Amino acid sequence: MSLPGADLAPFADRRRRVLDWMRSQGGGVAVLAAGVAPARNRDSEYPFRPDSDFYYLTGFTEPEAWLVLIAGAQDRAILFCRERHPEHEIWEGRRFGPEAAGAHFLMDDAHPVSALDELVPAWLLDQPTLWLRLTDESSGVRARGWLSQAHSRVRNGVQAPGRLEDLSGVLAAMRLVKDPSEIATMRQAARISAHAHARAMRAVRPGMHEYELEAELMYEFRRHGAQAVAYGTIVAGGANACVLHYPAGDAVLRDGDLVLIDAGCELDCYASDITRTFPVNGTFSGPQRALYDLTVAAQEAAAAVTRPGASFNDAHDAALRVLAQGMLDERLLQGSLDGVIESGAYSRFYMHRTGHWLGLDVHDVGDYRGPARAAGEARPWRTLEAGMMLTIEPGIYVRAADDVPARFWDIGIRTEDDALVTDTGCELITRAVPVSAREIEALMRE
Ligand code: GLY
Ligand code: MN
Ligand code: MN
Repeated sequence: MSLPGADLAPFADRRRRVLDWMRSQGGGVAVLAAGVAPARNRDSEYPFRPDSDFYYLTGFTEPEAWLVLIAGAQDRAILFCRERHPEHEIWEGRRFGPEAAGAHFLMDDAHPVSALDELVPAWLLDQPTLWLRLTDESSGVRARGWLSQAHSRVRNGVQAPGRLEDLSGVLAAMRLVKDPSEIATMRQAARISAHAHARAMRAVRPGMHEYELEAELMYEFRRHGAQAVAYGTIVAGGANACVLHYPAGDAVLRDGDLVLIDAGCELDCYASDITRTFPVNGTFSGPQRALYDLTVAAQEAAAAVTRPGASFNDAHDAALRVLAQGMLDERLLQGSLDGVIESGAYSRFYMHRTGHWLGLDVHDVGDYRGPARAAGEARPWRTLEAGMMLTIEPGIYVRAADDVPARFWDIGIRTEDDALVTDTGCELITRAVPVSAREIEALMRE
């Protein structure tokens, strides 16, 4: 991450946009924390991964760092980070140190993180607003101290900020529309994940454990440089696929069952998110194929309406109509199409939405609705714009029940790709792994 040679100009450009916005709000100071490595057990830690907003504005990946933005007569972006430490660096690896980090990451200034509590209160004097992410506990606790220090100096004729505001909204709005460097990274993450799914399709055999397929995915992620998984990998054989957040476990994959894999790598902090469902023995049965083709048709219908100017919900509506009609055709439901949609009867077999924003977080930030058109009216779904990235992931999950045709019992299927909204429509950037049943069967025969 943030390899030497990586282009850091986009990060500086994002800081400039935030500072411009802060000035448009009357100026002030914004503070963001990178976070610390979370404890795992005793003296072991989970690998550190910076806070997404912090990374978005810095490209800096060391723990314990902070970013301060001051919007005023002269804008300033200031990084706080750990000092060089020969002893620690022997055990934990190289640190930039403030001097090198400030220059490398194009900051106006940089300081040791130990100076944060001394310097920030002075910068708050005579500033109207302190911006934080209000859900970030670490900066909330520190901010109270900074503000009380600033308040203790008002006898000198200076003022402390009178407003504490949330910085999350402006960052979420910016992050929702990806810039070219983000799109390039997400395309690469998508490609790696697609190849990992194809690898799992080739590797699967009846009698394997779910965790063995997880290992195939991890191998492919890591050997192409992805640092982590974007979320917990799902490998669900047979009925396990009807548990929506089932983690890859130790169940044996059986001849005649499907296996659902929902897995995506994280590359340079950017997520990918793919689901494929395929037959453990390489050939879909008739009932499996019927429901599988339904999810593919639903996804096609959703992708066809994913374009600039469309509403975020259009894809869900389109997928839902295809799925609900299929449920009627296959006698999973009775009634009319409009009837089962209006009553919500379909939700017994399709209980999640058809997509979500994707970016630095797998369920990325960004409002799903726009502003109300008139006072008192419900807020309409967001209008799509070129550069937005979202998933399209219809599914169907049939648990065994007396009132359901037995041929469909315990079949769980989801088909998920990542879509970049382009100028004219959308591009599914995860299609380096096949999606049609015929192509999947052909790949599995290789
Ligand atoms: N893997 C998380 C999701 O599909 O939303
Ligand atoms: Mn998803
Ligand atoms: Mn997924």
